Amino acid sequence: MSEGCPVLAVTNRKGGSGKTTTAVNLAAELAARGQRILLVDADTQGHCALGLGVAPTVGSRGLHRLFTGGQIDIKDLIVQTRCAGLDLIPADTRFDGRGLYDDETLLRQALSRLAGYDLMVLDTPPSVDLVLLNALQAAHGVLIPVVPQVLGSAGVRQLSQLFYQVATRGRSDLRLVGLLPIMCDRSVPSQAKVLAELAQTFGSQRILRGIRPDVRLAEAFGAGQPIRDYAPRSRGAMDYFMLAEAMLPLGLQVSETSA
Ligand SMILES: Nc1ncnc2c1ncn2[C@@H]1O[C@H](COP(=O)(O)OP(=O)(O)OP(=O)(O)O)[C@@H](O)[C@H]1O
Ligand SMILES: [Mg+2]
Repeated sequence: MSEGCPVLAVTNRKGGSGKTTTAVNLAAELAARGQRILLVDADTQGHCALGLGVAPTVGSRGLHRLFTGGQIDIKDLIVQTRCAGLDLIPADTRFDGRGLYDDETLLRQALSRLAGYDLMVLDTPPSVDLVLLNALQAAHGVLIPVVPQVLGSAGVRQLSQLFYQVATRGRSDLRLVGLLPIMCDRSVPSQAKVLAELAQTFGSQRILRGIRPDVRLAEAFGAGQPIRDYAPRSRGAMDYFMLAEAMLPLGLQVSETSA
């Protein structure tokens, strides 16, 4: 099935592994290069809006309405951000999981109705539920941020099982784009060991350069700005710049025919 616009899911079962920081900053970095990017927040924590300084409006609707049926036009959920070229579909922070339609393909169908983007980036929740399955079914590529610690690699293994389940259940073109080490310092022996294990499991070409620890990433988030705007000379800004550079040769532009 070809849906025109490539979709990248940023995902890991492990909480606090840098998914949202990566989704927001990668999306902003690519938008700054002139690409039209839609960031879709599938996590009811709603952190993407916070990270981009998008204030929730009273009575506003978020992505999760899609999962409870009703007549929602996905176009009505899109909000502009202060970054040129970057739009957002915020999460519905009031969604409590009730009334969920048992359909893994709702998000995929809805996103395929949107045109005019070069890439959609999905931020995902740290839980395995129908919303995450929807995100994986909607995706062409998966980017897995991982903090290189023992528990971090356990989470990646669990996620990879889910990845292969989804890939064999209808999304046969789903690709593992790469693992992105977060708060990464290869000079720390325990981190180097975990990264070596991950390279052995997934192939060393799938281990990306990584994002170094940088407190300014957390500060930028608190200020509601991507790191490239908040602290353009910081290590975090440099590392997300390099990630965006690395993405294109990795085949992020899944659909050659996308406008
Ligand atoms: N490279 C980094 N250096 C320092 N702090 C970081 C870095 N990347 C992320 N953080 C911080 O780590 C915390 C968790 O990051 P983030 O919210 O992106 O993780 P997450 O995987 O989206 O979490 P959740 O599973 O709750 O959605 C945040 O406070 C964030 O600011
Ligand atoms: Mg998050």
